[in-house]
Amino acid sequence: MSILPKDENGCPYLQLAPMEGVGDYSFRKAIASIGGFDEAVRDFIRVPRNAHIKSLGKMYTANELSPIPMAAQIMGADPDLMGEMAQELERRGALRIDVNCGCPSNTVTGRGAGSSLLKEPDFLHEVVKAVVKAVRVPVTIKMRAGFEDTSLFKENLFAAQETGVQYITLHPRTKVDGYGPPARWELIAEAKSLLKVPVVGNGDILNVQDALNMLQITKCDALMIGRGSIINPFIFHQIKAHFSKAPYCLKWDDLLSYLNIYVAAAPVEASVRLRVGKLKQLFGFLFKNSAKLLEKRQAILTFEQQDPDALLAYAKPLLQEGWLFAFT
Ligand SMILES: Cc1cc2nc3c(=O)[nH]c(=O)nc-3n(C[C@H](O)[C@H](O)[C@H](O)COP(=O)(O)O)c2cc1C
Repeated sequence: MSILPKDENGCPYLQLAPMEGVGDYSFRKAIASIGGFDEAVRDFIRVPRNAHIKSLGKMYTANELSPIPMAAQIMGADPDLMGEMAQELERRGALRIDVNCGCPSNTVTGRGAGSSLLKEPDFLHEVVKAVVKAVRVPVTIKMRAGFEDTSLFKENLFAAQETGVQYITLHPRTKVDGYGPPARWELIAEAKSLLKVPVVGNGDILNVQDALNMLQITKCDALMIGRGSIINPFIFHQIKAHFSKAPYCLKWDDLLSYLNIYVAAAPVEASVRLRVGKLKQLFGFLFKNSAKLLEKRQAILTFEQQDPDALLAYAKPLLQEGWLFAFT
């Protein structure tokens, strides 16, 4: 069976993207309550040169979203430590280990990890190969199209493929692009035409039509969605519904429960101030979904009371006025 199986209606395998800082535990629990995606990828576990592997491993809980599987992602530049980390995560039940070759953060790239690996295809190969050798579970990589430019794009794709990874997820921007210019889907099409391993297409899928366009333009094997799922947490169901031809019925109660779970799942040690900040961050995405919601976004973001329940109570009626239109 394919590692990226389509569903019974031909809908490609749908993955929730890793999003450090935004797609955290609270968000994952909340969006898993709505569901519709086949697999999630946890945000990266950084493996520094002085890594204490056992303690780092505790960051990952394989059955966190059960029954939805959640892959582990690791990021580092020391081949031996990356291999050890992968083993620890395999021991903790990870069904798949993904190697981060895309993080653009300067603190990360300064240490040679994340998107920095794209500067040296041979080194990328060495790091990823060490992970592939260390575990029995499938290893995959998630990469950008390059560091400063795409001059090493093909070399990096082949270097990755030759390690024995099961598939490659491509976010087609360079490190220097950050999240600014539109994702260059034509690079996903190019990767697909060059590689033998499957390619997961990622970048700028905000609605069902985008998903269909991505599939048509790139011929990719599966889809990964990040920010689009914070803006519209129903997006996965809506994509699946397109293929099944059975309309997906949006329910206000599902959205409410999503928000309640998000608030309730905040870490106990988080200060009230931090929890309000995180909820505002979530609303910042959610209220981008339509012009009607966008009008209210500022009011939410400048709401002054430092209490997540008060913020939720304030936001609910504003959301209720525009939500159905926005998410349809
Ligand atoms: C806040 C944020 C955090 C991210 N963290 C990670 C991460 O931990 N690992 C990773 O591989 N990609 C990370 N990404 C990149 C996303 O997984 C994804 O590749 C990118 O956002 C493009 O997809 P999208 O347009 O569907 O959001 C992050 C993106 C954002 C916006």
